[in-house]
Amino acid sequence: MWTKMTELLDIKYPVMCGGMMWLALPGLCSAISNAGGLGNLTAGNYDTGEELRDAIRETRGLTDKPFCVNITLLPSVRITKELHQEYFDVCCDEGVAALEISGAPIDRYLGEVAVEQAKKSGVKLIHKLGSVRHARHADSAGYDAVIAAGIEEGGHPLDDDVTTMVLTPRISESISIPVITAGGIADGRGLAAAMVLGGSGVMMASRFIATDECLAHPRIKEELVKRQENDTTLICRSIKLQMRCLNN
Ligand SMILES: Cc1cc2nc3c(=O)[nH]c(=O)nc-3n(C[C@H](O)[C@H](O)[C@H](O)COP(=O)(O)O)c2cc1C
Repeated sequence: MWTKMTELLDIKYPVMCGGMMWLALPGLCSAISNAGGLGNLTAGNYDTGEELRDAIRETRGLTDKPFCVNITLLPSVRITKELHQEYFDVCCDEGVAALEISGAPIDRYLGEVAVEQAKKSGVKLIHKLGSVRHARHADSAGYDAVIAAGIEEGGHPLDDDVTTMVLTPRISESISIPVITAGGIADGRGLAAAMVLGGSGVMMASRFIATDECLAHPRIKEELVKRQENDTTLICRSIKLQMRCLNN
């Protein structure tokens, strides 16, 4: 299947996995890439750049297909700006296929030189964001693609409640680089909808938890499959770091 996303990332299907702290590990990442999508290793799983390098190499031992690394540029006590820089340098050094950047845009956080460094290393830069304004910035700053993440996703970057359904066409008609849809996508119907709305493919995360290759406890997977559409809630909105979670 050809789309702007498959062409950009040299993958068979326009499906990628989103960053998942503690779950997006080499086993799941390589299984997704081997199946023709784009697997994801989440940098925040690792305490140092060298640990991330080992994980990248471990993944390369499991797949010869492209995969990406998520770097989440959000305030954190454990992950300092120096560690973010280390993650970024290691990814460029290792020449990973792509970086999924969430939170602050990397050109503002690490400087415009980061975009140049990624380009020289052949690393595609993809920014996960939640507004047309931020997508226009990514386009002009030299990113290769954006992920349009609506309120349905685990951590919509803003607190405006804009849905995936609204965001995908608005961003698609506003920028020239490929748009990948995220938030509430779990199957082929969601992929078809994303593409009709102007997207070039999808990012899914929650759906990948309910797989054999994900290390989450089997009871969590069972619960995930059993729950209904009204069984989630948003937490941490008051500190502007909202996350969508299963209701207890
Ligand atoms: C368990 C879990 C952990 C996540 N951790 C991160 C993370 O560390 N960084 C990030 O940018 N997004 C994270 N996300 C968000 C996903 O990458 C993705 O944007 C979102 O979940 C897509 O929506 P979906 O779950 O409806 O498919 C996480 C999502 C889940 C479900």
